[in-house]
Amino acid sequence: MSNIVSEKMYALGSKRSEIRELFEYGKKRIAEVGAENVYDFSLGNPSVPAPDCVKNTLAKLVSETDPVALHGYTSAQGDAGVRQACADYVKNTHGCDCSADDFYMTCGAAASLTITLNALSKEGDEVIVLAPFFPEYTVFITQAGMKCVQVKCSEEDFQIDFAALEAAINEHTKAIIINSPNNPSGAVFSEDTIKKLAEMLEGAQKKYNRSIFIIADEPYRELVYDADIKVPFIPNYYNNTIVCYSFSKSLSLPGERIGYILVPPKACDNRDIYFAVCGAGRALGYVCAPSLFQKIVPECIGKTADISIYKKNRDLLCNALSEYGYKVVRPDGAFYLFVKALEEDSRAFCEKAKAHDLLIVASDSFGFPGYARISYCVSTEMIERALPAFKALAEEYNK
Ligand SMILES: Cc1ncc(COP(=O)(O)O)c(C=O)c1O
Repeated sequence: MSNIVSEKMYALGSKRSEIRELFEYGKKRIAEVGAENVYDFSLGNPSVPAPDCVKNTLAKLVSETDPVALHGYTSAQGDAGVRQACADYVKNTHGCDCSADDFYMTCGAAASLTITLNALSKEGDEVIVLAPFFPEYTVFITQAGMKCVQVKCSEEDFQIDFAALEAAINEHTKAIIINSPNNPSGAVFSEDTIKKLAEMLEGAQKKYNRSIFIIADEPYRELVYDADIKVPFIPNYYNNTIVCYSFSKSLSLPGERIGYILVPPKACDNRDIYFAVCGAGRALGYVCAPSLFQKIVPECIGKTADISIYKKNRDLLCNALSEYGYKVVRPDGAFYLFVKALEEDSRAFCEKAKAHDLLIVASDSFGFPGYARISYCVSTEMIERALPAFKALAEEYNK
């Protein structure tokens, strides 16, 4: 490594994440053996097209709006009308009293998280993440200058282990990231769970005489598949919640980079946090989220791609894998299945899967070794083609 570059950045950039590494390997294998023989379950890249409202709104905007206004800069925190539409939607849907000035438009959840973490960061602060978690959390938290503290969820159902969480909270705890529906487990936290979490954090705030935030990472909010599964809106249960939302998955727009941060009025020091969010956006170069895609938000917020396909995929995979002998907890939401590896070493297990051209991600980087993540936001047809390979892999262990 040249001595002119940052060692930290070089380390981050010279090695891809395990997920990206596998995706690149898949592309290579497709060139070698053909797309019909590779079963790529690596990325969370939605296969269902964006709903029609996206195409129709884009067409209307492009044909009817002055291009200079359409493609020009908006305010750093986002177009005022777009932020008002977000506020109206959140107020009408979740009953949370908020205004346009509580919203900051971002380039997706990753930007929402990095901005929020940088806005809150003070020396010595710690942020708790619940394992299994989205691997980039560790990068985002440490890069914001805070310590990442990992707390494992219960292995039985990937719900919060409250005893372990309580033991991890201390006088340095600044925030806990809650991602429900969860990547990679698909677990959804119920209203009772959120109430219990809120009660515990209220107690901790008093005990340590400091504000502790929930950072609600919500790219999968709308992706739940059964009528009885509800995703509680956390600011309604715990005032010190900051919502990091993204349209990447709900509208199938991951490449367009659009989302928002909501700092609800009930959060303590709401205006100070909001200005720190604006400051972090500025410092990180995240001003003015993509203009065109900001402007589809008023028409498309609350709508989703056809998620019935993910439900079909989930059921197909869960049923088949259980039948083949895999241990599977049926996920309530998101589009990932977290299966127990058939040997202790999940990386070795995923290498064996690779020999069948089954590309699934070892769980170590999710902070929960011994499992593999299967991303099922793929075509149903690919899952059907992949099932014999999953069966053959299981049989290899049953010999
Ligand atoms: C839990 C979680 N948070 C954040 C992100 C980043 O989302 P975005 O593409 O909107 O930046 C992802 C992406 O897969 C995710 O799974």
